[in-house]
Amino acid sequence: MLRFLTAGESHGRGLVAIVEGMPSGMSLIAEDINPDLKARQGGYGRGGRMKIESDQVQILSGVRWGQTLGSPIALLIENKDFANWETKMSVHPEHRDPTIAIQEPRPGHADLVGLLKYNRPDIRDILERASARETAARVAVGAVCRKLLQQFSIESVSHVVSIGTVVAPVQSLTFEEIRARQAASDLKCADPKAEMTMKVAIDLAKHEGDSLGGVVEVRVKGLPVGLGSHVHWDRKLDGKLAQSLMSIQAIKGVEIGLGFQSAFLDGSKVHDEISTDGSVFLRLSNNAGGLEGGMTTGEDLVLRAAMKPIATLQRPKKTINPFTKQPASASTERSDVCAVTAAAVVAEAATLFTVAQAFCEKFGGDSLKEMKRNFDLYCEQIRHFPEDLP
Ligand SMILES: Cc1cc2nc3c(=O)[nH]c(=O)nc-3n(C[C@H](O)[C@H](O)[C@H](O)COP(=O)(O)O)c2cc1C
Repeated sequence: MLRFLTAGESHGRGLVAIVEGMPSGMSLIAEDINPDLKARQGGYGRGGRMKIESDQVQILSGVRWGQTLGSPIALLIENKDFANWETKMSVHPEHRDPTIAIQEPRPGHADLVGLLKYNRPDIRDILERASARETAARVAVGAVCRKLLQQFSIESVSHVVSIGTVVAPVQSLTFEEIRARQAASDLKCADPKAEMTMKVAIDLAKHEGDSLGGVVEVRVKGLPVGLGSHVHWDRKLDGKLAQSLMSIQAIKGVEIGLGFQSAFLDGSKVHDEISTDGSVFLRLSNNAGGLEGGMTTGEDLVLRAAMKPIATLQRPKKTINPFTKQPASASTERSDVCAVTAAAVVAEAATLFTVAQAFCEKFGGDSLKEMKRNFDLYCEQIRHFPEDLP
């Protein structure tokens, strides 16, 4: 079973991830992970924090001489900004300073509920962990999973479909077209014209002390038929992917394939007809987004996630100071105006982890060699269907 844990506060010493269940014998170096960390920090509309941090991973364990050992892989991303927070985020009791407590919960954040639930005297005790800085650790984990899936020719791409009311007309683009175009875009948007309008919208929001959300899309190609299962609710891959994406900070909706649009169409316009080229089974369209009955069909996985606008506003909303019960203005942490581009990178990482987890469940082995053997035998069985039926 592939699993991971993360730890770390936004302005603490650093972020840690432990990935358990990776097979041995896979090559892995920090440079396999760092480009994804850099991509997460990019995007027009990011705040000052991204200028301070330039994330680099340190692989602390689970790898020897550039190869995984099958033991837990521990990853560390140091927070460069910690130098400015050493006493404010210190673990030592002698640094305690109640005068710096944040007392004005921001609407749309974990601030108030976390304060009440964890019974804390300072909102910083909540916002430091609720912050999307944690997604740097998730992106590092996703990069390790990308490396595993690449061994089986599985590839992914993510891109920005909309920001605010500006929608990029990208429905008809192929995987390769999206990959090339998003790489050339500051916003990870595959339509240059829409990108320009999105930048104007971000500038306007910034000028007005406001913020913007948007929609991101993740595609995965090269998947075998049958990851996930129809037999039980918690084995369905569509459900697992939705959970994985929904758990990303500020994601408020997840779609697979046609998603919500399918509810407005006749069945005849939704369901993908089945065909074959003689050896493999195909779908004549991919409205299902590569999943039927909670299992991969072999078509590209197509997932979309909706991100709400950033909740820390430079023109803050009204709130209540929960200590005095008096009206107040929400606190203004340093913040992004729009982080949809970063959310696309995080969504891709979350997808890669969940797909890798399903992959390990199906083809699991202690070594990469054993996994490849299991994978090849299964692919052969699918190719030769209906031979060798029981
Ligand atoms: C990549 C990324 C960057 C984010 N940056 C910010 C930010 O700078 N300021 C902010 O208020 N929220 C930011 N968020 C969103 C908050 O972390 C999130 O809204 C908050 O923790 C409350 O969680 P919820 O929206 O899931 O309920 C970001 C989210 C992501 C995915």
